[in-house]
Amino acid sequence: MQVSDVKRFAVIGLGKMGVDWIANLVEGGYEVVGFDTVPEARDRAPKSLAKALGWVAKKRHPEEEGFAEQAAGRLTVVGSEEELISQLGSCQVLLEVILEDLGLKCEVLSRLAPHLPDAAMIWTNTSSLSVHTMGVAAGRPDRFVGTHGMNPVYQMPAVEVVRHSDIADSTLGMTLEILRGLGKDPFVASDVTGFWVNKHLVPFMLEAYRALERGEITVEDGDRGLKGSLGHPQGVFKLSDFIGNDTMYRVAMAMYLATQDPRYYPPAILARMFKNGEFGVKAGKGFYEWDGFKATGGRDFSALTIKCSDTLLEV
Ligand SMILES: NC(=O)c1ccc[n+]([C@@H]2O[C@H](COP(=O)([O-])OP(=O)(O)OC[C@H]3O[C@@H](n4cnc5c(N)ncnc54)[C@H](O)[C@@H]3O)[C@@H](O)[C@H]2O)c1
Repeated sequence: MQVSDVKRFAVIGLGKMGVDWIANLVEGGYEVVGFDTVPEARDRAPKSLAKALGWVAKKRHPEEEGFAEQAAGRLTVVGSEEELISQLGSCQVLLEVILEDLGLKCEVLSRLAPHLPDAAMIWTNTSSLSVHTMGVAAGRPDRFVGTHGMNPVYQMPAVEVVRHSDIADSTLGMTLEILRGLGKDPFVASDVTGFWVNKHLVPFMLEAYRALERGEITVEDGDRGLKGSLGHPQGVFKLSDFIGNDTMYRVAMAMYLATQDPRYYPPAILARMFKNGEFGVKAGKGFYEWDGFKATGGRDFSALTIKCSDTLLEV
């Protein structure tokens, strides 16, 4: 298969990252067939895509009349996995963007992969999990690669392309070429837990949650401090709400399970948010209260502070 043969993607998982990836793919002229097991996610996908494409059209195609509408027309959402399977024969790439759960990803990939053309590649947007393990589960490790897009994919240039021990050079080469054609700035990373970006970002974020639960900082001061000193675009707690605190919990837990390194164990404050559905922007509540994409105020977590030993001795 050549890059010029790639015309159609199948995307499994129409959540935050799935839809954002689709915005980039249809912008680049690719046809996409997408599926999600949750009916609300399937209903929401075209609306979220229209919103993303509104941004794409304004920023990158201001002179092209009707660009967003035409691009949106390249997505077909199907209502069942069987329907997706019936269309896989005409797809050259399957992009997996479901929840960060290795067992689930392997199970879904092993079910779908046999229906793809032999030459087709599989991309996974996993944040941290073993790409090689998924490639083996899919029965085609040579044509399997990690393509870890950053949130929001259609705005962020970087894509972490994960190379593992059994990848074919042609898979890596074609993937980089397709991504560059989409205007991305891909870089190659190793198939180690968390790859390059999350190997650094996740411990950093988990340390921020722990500081919050020790009462060392408030949500808003924490973010203001990192914005004004380290030049972070929004600060760590807002970033967590954008990523999704459910995704953060799953990623941290997956990294802990893979390494047994206690630095990755999700702190209680994050586990509590996961359990209570305080997922961040998508839930309207996380470290901040949200009105759509606008934060209306940082929440007060002082009642949940884990007292330090000095305080305990005073009681
Ligand atoms: N959110 C981020 O900032 C971010 C950044 C980089 C990578 N990622 C990775 O991208 C992937 C998706 O994350 P997300 O933030 O989009 O999560 P999300 O919860 O927004 O979306 C995941 C979607 O997968 C669907 N799904 C679950 N099981 C399925 C199945 N068997 N078949 C079809 N659909 C299924 C869910 O219904 C959901 O809509 C994860 O691997 C995550 O680690 C996320």
